[in-house]
Amino acid sequence: MLVSAKEMLDKAKAGHYAVGQFNINNLEWTKAILLTAQECNSPVILGVSEGAGKYMTGYKTVVGMVNGMIEELGITVPVALHLDHGSFDHCVKCIEAGFSSVMFDGSHDPIDVNVEKTKEIVALAHSKGVSVEAEVGSIGGEEDGVVGMGECADPKECKAIADLGIDFLAAGIGNIHGKYPENWAGLSFETLDAIQQLTGDMPLVLHGGTGIPVDMIKKAISLGVAKINVNTECQLSFAAATREYIEAGKDQQGKGFDPRKLLAPGTEAIKATVKEKMEIFGSIGKA
Ligand code: 13P
Repeated sequence: MLVSAKEMLDKAKAGHYAVGQFNINNLEWTKAILLTAQECNSPVILGVSEGAGKYMTGYKTVVGMVNGMIEELGITVPVALHLDHGSFDHCVKCIEAGFSSVMFDGSHDPIDVNVEKTKEIVALAHSKGVSVEAEVGSIGGEEDGVVGMGECADPKECKAIADLGIDFLAAGIGNIHGKYPENWAGLSFETLDAIQQLTGDMPLVLHGGTGIPVDMIKKAISLGVAKINVNTECQLSFAAATREYIEAGKDQQGKGFDPRKLLAPGTEAIKATVKEKMEIFGSIGKA
């Protein structure tokens, strides 16, 4: 059964580790992440962007697939199904479709508009037991066509949003979606520290988990980050393993073209990436 992400993230914040949000794109992704979480006895959050939701034909399909897999694969660790960077309308759609968690991303709106819309989503989501992530300060880079410049959040604005009864907060601290450029300045721990001072026990979310050095990840966790989002890294692992299979001509040997064989190395590669991240985040054995 799907669970809200609130309890697992409150526990992570108190226990000084982070739960991974791994974005899904299709059946292989979902299966690889769920099986790895179970094998590692780790809580997990499945992230779905609006674009990926559309690709998988809609949120009801996603809910059906994930619920079916949890039952048929015998998954017993806590699993949350979470809308990533949702607009107001898509948060409503996901809550209706059976997601257990949503992110309302009002970071591109003026703060007073962000506050008003976040408040409405909190009321609706909480009436159905669904957890809510809100965002202040945009995350840089490009994800699913949404481009952000990447700015550090204002800690006072973070406090204003945190006070609305949200369950966890994404705050820009110089993080970027996708690969980090050579000249990246790194995470702003000064900003993170100031945000944590004002928001107290609120679990903080670090987007753009791909390519952040391990020491920075650990420091961010020590300063209150309890959820880390990873998307691009699983895509890169999947693509590299699939490329290797095809370049070795394995798709032309016997029935190597069978999708169950063709997609297997990529699926295994996602599992290895997820396990590596769970080790770094410290969520193994915390289910
Ligand atoms: P990456 O693609 O950089 O791992 O970021 C994922 C993310 O933050 C999803 O919201």
